[in-house]
Amino acid sequence: MKPALQCNVLIVSADTAYAAAMEAGLNHCAREQKNPYALRFVTQHAADTALEQAGTDPCLQSVFIDAASIDDAQDLGRALFALRAELDLFLVVDHVSDVDAVFHEVVDRGDENYNQLYRLVQSAIARRARTPFADTLRDYVYGAKDAWHTPGHSGGDSLRESPWVADFHQMMGEHIFNTDLSVSVQVLDSLLEPHSVIQEAQDLAAETFGADHSFFVTNGTSTANKVIMQSQLGSGGKVILDQACHKSVHHAVIMCGADPVYLRASVNETFGFYGPVPKADIIATLDANPDASLLVLTSCTYDGLYYDLTPIISHAHSLGVKVLIDEAWYAHGRFHPALRPTAVECGADYVTQSTHKMLSAFSQASMIHVCDPDFDEHRFREDLNMHTSTSPQYAMIASLDVARKQVSLEGFAQLQRCLDIAARLRQGINRTGVFRVLELEDILPEALAGDGIRLDPCKLSIDTRQSSLSAPELQLKLFENYGIQVEKVTHNTVSVLVTLGSTESKVHRLVYALEQLARKYHGQKKASQPRRNRPLPGLCDFACLPRDAYFGPVQDLPLVGEEHGANLQLVDAICADQVVPYPPGIPVLVPGQRITRAVLDYLLELYHGQSGIELHGLIEQGGLAHLRIVAGSASDN
Ligand SMILES: Cc1ncc(COP(=O)(O)O)c(C=O)c1O
Repeated sequence: MKPALQCNVLIVSADTAYAAAMEAGLNHCAREQKNPYALRFVTQHAADTALEQAGTDPCLQSVFIDAASIDDAQDLGRALFALRAELDLFLVVDHVSDVDAVFHEVVDRGDENYNQLYRLVQSAIARRARTPFADTLRDYVYGAKDAWHTPGHSGGDSLRESPWVADFHQMMGEHIFNTDLSVSVQVLDSLLEPHSVIQEAQDLAAETFGADHSFFVTNGTSTANKVIMQSQLGSGGKVILDQACHKSVHHAVIMCGADPVYLRASVNETFGFYGPVPKADIIATLDANPDASLLVLTSCTYDGLYYDLTPIISHAHSLGVKVLIDEAWYAHGRFHPALRPTAVECGADYVTQSTHKMLSAFSQASMIHVCDPDFDEHRFREDLNMHTSTSPQYAMIASLDVARKQVSLEGFAQLQRCLDIAARLRQGINRTGVFRVLELEDILPEALAGDGIRLDPCKLSIDTRQSSLSAPELQLKLFENYGIQVEKVTHNTVSVLVTLGSTESKVHRLVYALEQLARKYHGQKKASQPRRNRPLPGLCDFACLPRDAYFGPVQDLPLVGEEHGANLQLVDAICADQVVPYPPGIPVLVPGQRITRAVLDYLLELYHGQSGIELHGLIEQGGLAHLRIVAGSASDN
């Protein structure tokens, strides 16, 4: 059964008579007038009980703070904002003074027109409850318009009656087709030049995520990262980036002709996790490269580690370096105090988020949040459009609008539920006595111990070392025997994500499966355990810009030389491709780097070994792996 809608509105006043009159007056309005959000007005007489309610009441949407009777009323507003950024806060005053930006509106204390106050609360919630694009799309579809425009399936009409492909139409459902429209439909605005419903939806997203501007991206954070890199670096410029950044960031370096300075990702050798970068290294690299235009970091990482970003960003800003934080895995961070602060809240200039990874948007639906005081919107728009299809998926845009509405109105409740689920799942898994969910201390490499790094509890990495199953074997058993698909594995960990879509039944099924597998595969020794992950070899020096190596004249040389050893001609040659062992997907070579013996030996070991690690970026020729290098850069050895 769907839970009933309810919205609580809190009046915080130490003046009992005033609060009682206001509560009674507003509840009278709620009973007598239209009440689509099921508003209910309640009172707290002190700041601490108000904060307590805000920290626990999932239905709380709005708060009136009586400045005449509550000491430091604006401080209470700020504390409420720090706890729940989405709440509509109203300051009740008897004289006008400076009002903090956390307040939605100021209300005159002498005003006993409760009808008006009631409407004020309703309209603030109604604003957050709007989904301008999704609503217009629904109205358009329900208006059943004839289509003489792209896409060619024309609302699904090309498939519906076909003896060959009608089954696809039936399986996908009619709305996947009739919501698939095009820029010809002018009432749906244009993603490339938004001025009506898409712009309104983006403005609401900016309010919700605390940014100055937000942009919808329909090709994932992979594209979002490239757009920002291009807009910040243009066709050159120095960028400081984590070696373990997503490959889209490395691709952008090539595309922009950027001059990269790599930060060495930390490695947890026991479990095969990579990142983040020690704070001291980031600060030292910034100090050594004050001419850099941009710093790019990932927070949180795939495994859920997130930085104490404020000091890092402040340091970058003190040197005039802009900051892009890839929050592909952290779009939920703003909506629960246990997860804040987000990168936007820590002062990042640009933040990319895969709304689809943790929230309710369709795959590929991402957002860019901008807080750069020097933001050049015209230039940014061109960069965004260069990477955006002129035929974006409208269902994806609608899903961004709806995902934003959801977190704005029930993000706190949903994330509290996620955190509860994560805690129960953790307990259930640990109770098996064989499988164990890793704690921050297990995951964090020693070099980062004092850096204030935290772990997102929604990302659970399960240690499989006390089982006779390797992690890939456990993954397979969960899938084949129990119908459970996990997020990813290393050699000895299996990771699961708790998202807004996680349910109690899924928790029961996963814990049940792991209990059964723990009983069966406890204590048995495997003949050959897979090897632990090796540390990455040291970073190689650059001989030229990645773009010049990638686009310039190249030649291919075999990786393997005499007697299965390394081809020594490759030592000191300039790599022309990105070479990425997968997993973990972190490049050990990017175009322009001089290949060291250590990297070569590392690649060779992976190539000859039975690690199950794929080597992306090598070329297979005549059954032999080849490396693309800058023509003429090989040694004569
Ligand atoms: C850190 C990071 N950034 C960016 C991306 C790309 O995101 P998307 O799948 O939305 O393109 C990923 C994908 O997994 C990622 O892990």
